[in-house]
Amino acid sequence: LFRAAGEDRTNSMGANLANDDTLATLARDINAALAPVSATPLVPGATISGDKVKVTNPADRREQVGEYVNADAATVERAIANAVAAQPAWDKMPAASRARILEHAADLLEQRMGAFMAICVKEAGKSIASSVGEVREAVDFLRYYAMQSRKLFGAPEKLPGPTGETNELWLHGKGVFACISPWNFPLAIYLGQVAAALASGNTVVAKPAEQTSLTAYLATQLLHEAGVPKDVLQFVPGDGATVGVALTKDPRIAGVCFTGSTETAWAINRALAARKAPIAALIAETGGQNALIADSSALPEQLVKDAMVSSFDSAGQRCSAARVLFVQSDIADKVITMLSGAMDELRVGDPALLSTDVGPVIDEDARQVLEDHAKRMDREATLINQVKLPEETANGCFFAPRAYELKSLSQLEREVFGPVLHVLRYEASDLDKVMADINATGYGLTLGIHSRIDATVEKIANTVRVGNCYVNRNQVGAVVGVQPFGGEGLSGTGPKAGGPHYLLRFATERVLTVNT
Ligand code: SER
Repeated sequence: LFRAAGEDRTNSMGANLANDDTLATLARDINAALAPVSATPLVPGATISGDKVKVTNPADRREQVGEYVNADAATVERAIANAVAAQPAWDKMPAASRARILEHAADLLEQRMGAFMAICVKEAGKSIASSVGEVREAVDFLRYYAMQSRKLFGAPEKLPGPTGETNELWLHGKGVFACISPWNFPLAIYLGQVAAALASGNTVVAKPAEQTSLTAYLATQLLHEAGVPKDVLQFVPGDGATVGVALTKDPRIAGVCFTGSTETAWAINRALAARKAPIAALIAETGGQNALIADSSALPEQLVKDAMVSSFDSAGQRCSAARVLFVQSDIADKVITMLSGAMDELRVGDPALLSTDVGPVIDEDARQVLEDHAKRMDREATLINQVKLPEETANGCFFAPRAYELKSLSQLEREVFGPVLHVLRYEASDLDKVMADINATGYGLTLGIHSRIDATVEKIANTVRVGNCYVNRNQVGAVVGVQPFGGEGLSGTGPKAGGPHYLLRFATERVLTVNT
């Protein structure tokens, strides 16, 4: 199903990164070989010791993808000290020079697209189409933030003033940024966070999600090769309780860029607030309880196609994914029948095969949470369809995609991060209540609307508080510079990643007033 979405392979700068032939070649390369990756913290001067953590393929746990060494407390301490010492020189470097380094990294990434797709497939269980999207988005972030940094940091903004006085507004890096990134976009969000912080004149200590440490390690090496000094960007793999806590409680950290759960964002906020230190910036992109509202004027074929992509692409492991489809009762039976039929066509299996639509979920813990949710739904909701898992999925962390019809939104306690779509019927006269219920969740990330009535679209878009609202299309796959991405309320702090204001949050403003 998703292979039909050829437009997803075009990056925001218009380059077609993969046509069907090159995609088939890349798929063969991925299956042919991926040398095991052996990663360590990348911290100049640190003594690397500690246990090796094995990384296995979520699609088949018998396959080892590589291993990495966790950063210990002394390594994190050394990384922060290095970053503090390196920051003034990096900040003084002309913005255009920093931008050129990021653009060089983008060139290298495009040249090595196959290798980076392979690690996304093998370590994160991403499908081939999703891995193309992953590399495309990472390249876009590097080029977009390079362009923004030239514009914002290259020269001061001239401000008005009385005769005989000049006023200039300069932007500088805040200092050392901790970048804490998720496993669901192991390359794009890792590089996006790091590139934004670097482009703005900060040095970076980066802690990726443990599940995807190898992808982040290779991405860090790529930036070093492109010219980022090794003390300007350092890599400290490890768990949140050790590395994350050590970073967020340290008074030398000037800002944290985080993508992950709302609960972890609260914990980071508390840790930063407890420090007797300069007040740190927190940029958090968190979860969602994303809705798709379809009224009776929606085109059922288009609605079902978009609902399928929005719910099941990337095995539903996108914070933007549609979790609840509100469908007006007049068309509900037809839509549910078509949705069930479309689900019969979904192919679940090895993400390294071009024919696979839905790969594994990230790990056994994630699968267990989904199974527990499904058990509750089996008791409390009506199953619409459950995709069959083929036998060859037995050694991986696979969860069969499913759809349930609910009685009320209150049956969903929290975000369900996987391939599960919940359907709710509503009467036309209940639209106000539907919108109020969505707002009452407190989340505000994405919203889909399927309607041919302009007044309805306008009313919903102006009432439901979300960061990204999509009308008559799917609601995933925001493109850098085209659909700046991020939510409000429980879904995040803003500003939006891939948007024109993002770098400002990584910067400090200084005004220079000169009496001439
Ligand atoms: N940016 C992604 C999307 O739009 C989600 O993180 O799907």
